[in-house]
Amino acid sequence: MGVSTVVSAATVTMAIATMVAVAPYACRATVHDDHHQLYPVILIPGAGGNQLEARLTAEYKATSWWCNRFYPLKKDEDGWFRLWFDIGVLLAPLTECFADRMTLYYDPEIDDYRNAPGVETRVSHFGSTESLLYLDPSFKHISSYMEPLVESIQQLGYKDTENLFGAPYDFRYGLASEGHPCDVGSTYLQNLKQLIENASNANGGNPVILVSHSLGGLFTLELLNRNPLSWRKQYIKHFIALSAPWGGTVNEMLTFASGNSLGVPLVNPLLVRNEQRSSESNLWLMPRRKQFPQETPLVVTSDSTYSSFDISRFLEDIGFEEGVHPYETRILPLVEELVAPRVPITCIVGNGVLTPETLYYGEEGFDKQPEIVYGDGDGTVNIASLLALVDEWKDEKDQKLKVIELAGISHTSILKDDKSIARIIDEIVTINSDISSSSLVSSL
Ligand SMILES: *[C@@H]1O[C@H](CO)[C@@H](O)[C@H](O)[C@H]1NC(C)=O
Repeated sequence: MGVSTVVSAATVTMAIATMVAVAPYACRATVHDDHHQLYPVILIPGAGGNQLEARLTAEYKATSWWCNRFYPLKKDEDGWFRLWFDIGVLLAPLTECFADRMTLYYDPEIDDYRNAPGVETRVSHFGSTESLLYLDPSFKHISSYMEPLVESIQQLGYKDTENLFGAPYDFRYGLASEGHPCDVGSTYLQNLKQLIENASNANGGNPVILVSHSLGGLFTLELLNRNPLSWRKQYIKHFIALSAPWGGTVNEMLTFASGNSLGVPLVNPLLVRNEQRSSESNLWLMPRRKQFPQETPLVVTSDSTYSSFDISRFLEDIGFEEGVHPYETRILPLVEELVAPRVPITCIVGNGVLTPETLYYGEEGFDKQPEIVYGDGDGTVNIASLLALVDEWKDEKDQKLKVIELAGISHTSILKDDKSIARIIDEIVTINSDISSSSLVSSL
């Protein structure tokens, strides 16, 4: 008899979950009236979705009087200003000043990356979703980032900094393989770990649901694997990775070779190329050998071809020799294996969107944008990379992995499109439905 009661309780929960999936905006707090019953959710954004503030010290030397005079226009009383994202930097002269201040430097003496001399940076609102809602809060209507997703999560009864949290980071920095200093990235993982523990403690010891977008998924996987299995079992309920570029992207080779206009036609990609090359996390996203086989050329020029096995030679040939040493010592060993963390994972990815697969450069070299042959993916990340874990973990007995593919959903529309938000919410509801059935069981 006890058994049949449990079954019907589970059935009811599933029916509710389906309702919520159908009408995610209409069902406010249908699942749990008491939001303390929900598993806490922590959002880990993708690269460009983070906000970065900067302050210049006396040590700073601007490249031109122009930058000193006109950028930034607004600072607070302590000199802090918005470095990323600020719509103003899309104006050409400001783009250069911006790029100059965003640039990272690899310092061989300390074997780590650091800011440009005289530039201090910080990420504000760690712990809250506040900084993840819009790319530039001064232009909300055109720069929405996680706002639609956060709104839908809140309709389930979640509240910011009570059981819903955000974990922004300085996305220019990445992580390095074992034995290499990585001050900014390791500090972030420490803070994220602390946030997870705090979130759980504040919610009756319930483990947390981690929801990442893009690069955030790579940080999250590293965080999990750098903590003991017992810690993961205690604190992590589930990891939902949206659009994670597990195996890197061909698009990243385009960024390194010719710059990436940030999706804005006004921006000359060559103005931001140096800054983009300097970013450690960009190097982390170079195509990985397991997903991009040696016999497949990714970049073709008039006198050479490059596969994922030729990244060092590629970096040299595009004129970025400085990148070779950090790539070979810090990045290659880091991406050699994607270790299964043995906590349940759901990957939600878009497909069927034209995604750069091979880049053809002519006689003019890398300063001229290449001809692009497109393949399957989410517009930014190739399908082989989005689905990398399926193949990589096919023999892992203790790894629960679910993959949801959404046709025609791009790398960023996954956070905005009604259908994909409904799917993400459905997943969060399903994970939460555990809690009501187990509390019902224990109260029987
Ligand atoms: C975690 O909680 C402690 C104690 O309340 C607090 O000092 C710390 O700042 C919190 N850290 C994070 C990352 O939330």
